[in-house]
Amino acid sequence: MNEFPIERAEEFHELLRRRVPEKTYAHCVSVAKTMLAMADKVEITPEQAVTAGLLHDLCKPMKPAELAQAAAEYGITEDLESPNLLHGPVAAEECRQTLDIEDEGVIDAIRWHTTGRAGWSRVGQAMYIADFSEPLRAYAGAEEAREILDRDGFEAALLFVIDQKLNQVKKHRSLHPSSEDFAKWAEREFAS
Ligand SMILES: [Fe+2]
Ligand SMILES: [Fe+2]
Repeated sequence: MNEFPIERAEEFHELLRRRVPEKTYAHCVSVAKTMLAMADKVEITPEQAVTAGLLHDLCKPMKPAELAQAAAEYGITEDLESPNLLHGPVAAEECRQTLDIEDEGVIDAIRWHTTGRAGWSRVGQAMYIADFSEPLRAYAGAEEAREILDRDGFEAALLFVIDQKLNQVKKHRSLHPSSEDFAKWAEREFAS
């Protein structure tokens, strides 16, 4: 069943079903729905919302050695030491080079979804909020992010999610420079 209003939805569903475990599949569908629900507000197209949402974690289950090999094949040279982060760039290049997705907003959103980046596209910003706050996320911050999105709007929700995610990450490891740049940039752009 194609529950999404885009031509390639069924193809992407099938690809995901083959590649990721049930829990990740459900998460990706939920991110796509969440992005679709905010598409008008954020001024991204339904196609961008669904494509980026469905495919962002396509490479998440890959083992470090597989990710490293795919990265080499796709010519990726950054974040090679960090499989946690590498599933974004590898998925982005698979979308571009193998699935022939040409929308740079979609590629860019998937590429940077684990860290964000300064000057990030609207598709990326929507992805960042949806990845954190889709309704299958059980932690308290997810619900609060959804409430902020409804009550205070997209930019307030983005700042909240950045704050939540960076605080979470800082407990375990040092921040990726792109995450720091993203946080500073968003603060300048969106904080009132
Ligand atoms: Fe991810
Ligand atoms: Fe995700």
